[in-house]
Amino acid sequence: MNKKIFIKTFGCQMNEYDSGRIYDSVKKIGFTKTDQYEDANCYLLNTCHIRDKAKEKVYHEIGRVKKIFRFKKKPLVIITGCVAQAENQEMLKREPYIDFVIGPQSYHKINEKILNYSQKKKIEETEFDAVSKFEYLSRIKNQSSKSSSFLTVQEGCDKFCHFCVVPYTRGPEYSRPFEQILNEARNLADQGTKEIILLGQNVNAYSDGNFRLSNLILEIEKLTQIRRIRYTTSHPKDMSEDLIDVYKNSKKLMPLVHLPIQSGSNKVLKLMNRKHTIKEYLYVFEKLKKINPEIEFSSDFIIGYPGEEEKDFNDTLDLIKKIKFINSYSFIFSPRPGTVAENLKLIDKKISTRRLDTIQKELFKNQLNKNKSLENQTIEVLVENQTKDNAGLFGRSEHMTSVVLNGQKEEIGKVVKVRINRSNQNTLFGEINTFSNVKVA
Ligand code: SAM
Ligand code: SF4
Ligand code: F3S
Repeated sequence: MNKKIFIKTFGCQMNEYDSGRIYDSVKKIGFTKTDQYEDANCYLLNTCHIRDKAKEKVYHEIGRVKKIFRFKKKPLVIITGCVAQAENQEMLKREPYIDFVIGPQSYHKINEKILNYSQKKKIEETEFDAVSKFEYLSRIKNQSSKSSSFLTVQEGCDKFCHFCVVPYTRGPEYSRPFEQILNEARNLADQGTKEIILLGQNVNAYSDGNFRLSNLILEIEKLTQIRRIRYTTSHPKDMSEDLIDVYKNSKKLMPLVHLPIQSGSNKVLKLMNRKHTIKEYLYVFEKLKKINPEIEFSSDFIIGYPGEEEKDFNDTLDLIKKIKFINSYSFIFSPRPGTVAENLKLIDKKISTRRLDTIQKELFKNQLNKNKSLENQTIEVLVENQTKDNAGLFGRSEHMTSVVLNGQKEEIGKVVKVRINRSNQNTLFGEINTFSNVKVA
């Protein structure tokens, strides 16, 4: 039988990496990918539990699949990711259309589960077993042939911020063996990857014996085919001196530091159990700016956390004005089941919405100003693919900003110099320019 799998991914880059690896795995048992719902005999939804809305999307999506297959043979429906881990049995009860629920640490069992599946026995596999998972996945080639590829080096979290489900859905911190990661990086480079984005829920907590994230970066940097290295997501507490020092020596580490701060108020950080202060954050900021003033910061913010008063909110706003974060994420606090903050008294929705609106305006202003400052400058862009209408090319600046440029598809995978003609809040527009000096962007 011609077996086709449709994979839909919600949530963070770690889920995107996992979806790619799940596909590498099911290929071994004869599946090929489809992007047409109707063609699929297996439908896999890789889910996110971070906010309530993210979770509800899962049930809406299954409703959609049910509708599409109303008069056709039902596909095998598999739920993976963080909702699978958090809700396991509950999901099977709430939505009998689901056949499998498999948590993020059990993907090494996915082929076996599919092959042994029987309609009468619903399956739920949600053990935490990161070692077996990565051992298994490292034996299957990562087949990403993209110019920019994700590479998970660390998974899970021991920090237990009071608002966050990740320690419950991804389990305790686990770092993959150093050599295992380097092998995957070499293999990606051989397949044409030019940029590696090292991933982890706390990527800068990476630790294998004496090896830290800084060692991984410096080792991957030796691969000549690799032009750019990034890492995400970091925790301020783990911005160690060796990692800061890499910015002095590395030629390939990009000058954008995604370092979530959540709030600009020490009081709120304490209520959140964030384990770092504003002073410590500013220390990292100032040190990195001294090493290279072109380094920019991006961040995550939670607005309206229980206990956030107007003064605390204003502190967040002041911090955004000081650091001039670009490319950042901001959301209103969403209470999550099983977390310490689950039942705390919520702030009036109108107040949270107004606060979110205010900080987003400030963040967008920073982004717009940054983009405007690049007009009439030449910057380096890694070309990732063609634009949807095939009329031009899409790439990213060193600061991860989207760039739309002219050119043929032969440029995909190259780092090209682009003169920026115009910009808006989200995108830079330009033309390939072979002869000028380059500004970091
Ligand atoms: N480990 C990273 C850190 O500590 O900064 C964050 C990883 S988390 C998957 C991504 C972001 O989701 C967080 O930085 C936070 O801003 C947001 N987030 C997590 N729980 C949330 C909640 N209950 N409500 C709103 N946003 C939340
Ligand atoms: Fe969640 Fe905090 Fe862990 Fe980040 S450090 S994953 S926000 S618990
Ligand atoms: Fe979501 Fe899980 Fe990532 S909750 S943000 S998919 S770690």
